[in-house]
Amino acid sequence: MEITKINGISGEITVPGDKSISHRGVMFGAISQGITELTGFLDGADCRSTISCFRKMGIEIKQDNDHVIIYGKGLHGLSSPTDILDVGNSGTTTRLMSGILAGSNFTSTVNGDASIQTRPMKRIITPLSMMGADIKSLRGNDCAPLQINGGHLHPIHYDSPVASAQVKSAVLLAGLYCDGVTSVTEPVLSRNHTELMLSGFGAEVTSQGTTASVVGLPQLQGQKIFVPGDISSAAYFIAAALIAPNAELTIRNVNCNPTRDGILKVAEAMGGNIKYENKRIVSGEEVCDLVVKSSSLQGTTVGGDIIPTLIDEIPMIAVMAAYANGTTIIKDAAELKVKESNRIDSVVMNLQAMGVDVTATDDGMVIHGGQPLHGAHIITKSDHRIAMAFAIAGLIATGITTFDDPNCVVISYPSFYETLSNICH
Ligand code: S3P
Repeated sequence: MEITKINGISGEITVPGDKSISHRGVMFGAISQGITELTGFLDGADCRSTISCFRKMGIEIKQDNDHVIIYGKGLHGLSSPTDILDVGNSGTTTRLMSGILAGSNFTSTVNGDASIQTRPMKRIITPLSMMGADIKSLRGNDCAPLQINGGHLHPIHYDSPVASAQVKSAVLLAGLYCDGVTSVTEPVLSRNHTELMLSGFGAEVTSQGTTASVVGLPQLQGQKIFVPGDISSAAYFIAAALIAPNAELTIRNVNCNPTRDGILKVAEAMGGNIKYENKRIVSGEEVCDLVVKSSSLQGTTVGGDIIPTLIDEIPMIAVMAAYANGTTIIKDAAELKVKESNRIDSVVMNLQAMGVDVTATDDGMVIHGGQPLHGAHIITKSDHRIAMAFAIAGLIATGITTFDDPNCVVISYPSFYETLSNICH
């Protein structure tokens, strides 16, 4: 895979289904009664890991590309897996599924790839243990492999120290197995797909400010869900059209849930030309079409409550900041250090390799933009979002941009390079 400078971008695209919603559709379908049908499912490696784990627990799941049918067996219908539940690279699978396993009456072991085995799990071990789960990190380092001996939970109110939808969701899902109300308060509101989708399946969920609550032991009923395009995948093409010359790109069917749309707000604050069309609600989620044109961008400050709404888009925002005139400060984003790679390090190292004046900070980075970028060999750390963000950087850099592991995009966007080459000229 080699990326070189382009002359322009044009066309109309859709991006694959939302990763967060695809995972949840499979999990919630598995623990509901009857059939759940997902259209627009993200057929990427992470969501396939979720399907494979629930198949190992006796759930029949038929998959034909982006169309998935789940034959749910109800809240207590999962069976004890005979094998390790392999989550691959997926933090969402690990943390959300642990909430369900904590409530299920069997012992299971959850493990994944080298990256997963370094990601912090204490953030779910603590609240799930408070609810009565017997859950341990087998190597004693608060990471996977995890052994979960589930059942007999009681409801809690949990004050989460981190704004994390994965932590919130793990507790709410365990709360489904409790007699009573389980609630979670987070410091800043994180993505709310669990709350929206669980109530679609029939659970009693309430949200007030940064607190979400669920009433336990519901009768969940299978649903038909249309999964919208993932804004985290659209982000690469939004940025490409903003920073490339002669660009006009339409991206249809993008999830623009306000707990996910920080990239759009930052792009606008930087002076980006983005139009929203056909705003609508699909399967409980806000969806729109976006028309993006070449723009001259200015540096900005990104920090505070907006961070959870754009956490996965920060590598892309950093590249936009390198193109923009002036200084961009990204702060309050220490969570970047515990993603698929340490994304402060991987972004700063690769921007520097392309000639950008950038400094890492404890909770983000400072980027002095507006100078020309040159091609480089990108060290992805096998992190899909690093590969994609720097593929976009390569479109405006002189020379050639190459990657140590271009294929890692299969985690969330298997057809990424194909879509990119179709719109670039
Ligand atoms: C996700 C939540 C976020 C995000 C991840 C997907 C989810 O993680 O980074 O890619 O689907 O709930 P945290 O909740 O750990 O911030």
